[in-house]
Amino acid sequence: MSSDDKTLRKYDDILEEDNHMPRWWLVILFGSIVFGFGYWLAYHTTDTFPSPPEVYQADVAALKKQRATANPTSEEALTTLAASSEAIAEGQKVYAGTCAACHGANAEGLVGPNLTDKFWIHGASGTAILKAVAEGFPDKGMPAWGPVIGDTKARNVTAYVLSLKGKNLPGKEPQGDPVE
Ligand code: HEC
Repeated sequence: MSSDDKTLRKYDDILEEDNHMPRWWLVILFGSIVFGFGYWLAYHTTDTFPSPPEVYQADVAALKKQRATANPTSEEALTTLAASSEAIAEGQKVYAGTCAACHGANAEGLVGPNLTDKFWIHGASGTAILKAVAEGFPDKGMPAWGPVIGDTKARNVTAYVLSLKGKNLPGKEPQGDPVE
């Protein structure tokens, strides 16, 4: 058995050397510790670097905005619009001037159905409401408002009607089917 200055030890009758950890291995080990600490400092103690969930949220918001701009009459765009207090306020003005006469001052229903309850004849989605506004139901007593008020006002008043969901104001009796 040749012996240099390395220590030998016996385990299960096998003679093995007890070498130092290789330098590259130690560099990786301590390098990772230093990097990990720096990473923790940067991501958890400062606001300089956004966390992955924040990056994700920002991406989703940007995508929604982009889709809403690309197709302002999509369900997604109308839902987004219905979250904008500005659009709702604009829509409420349109409603007061154009719709209140038939649907009641607070949309509780009059000649036209109650728009605050969960019963809908033609559907409760944003696209269904926009279609109702734009095309009306001429044979049922609601004129088409699209050509009169234009696209922007039609979308804003749709946002306003969407914002009434869940209000359930007492008014005209339920018409149509319940939509949860
Ligand atoms: C001249 C009266 C009149 C006016 C003005 C009017 N509506 Fe209507 N609306 C009706 C009637 C009547 C119905 C029911 C149609 C049916 O029975 O199919 C209706 C139905 C609707 C529906 C579908 C309700 C459901 O249960 O599916 C929506 C949404 C609606 N109107 C929104 C509006 C909005 C918003 C405006 C204003 C831009 C407006 N309406 C103006 C008379 C009117």
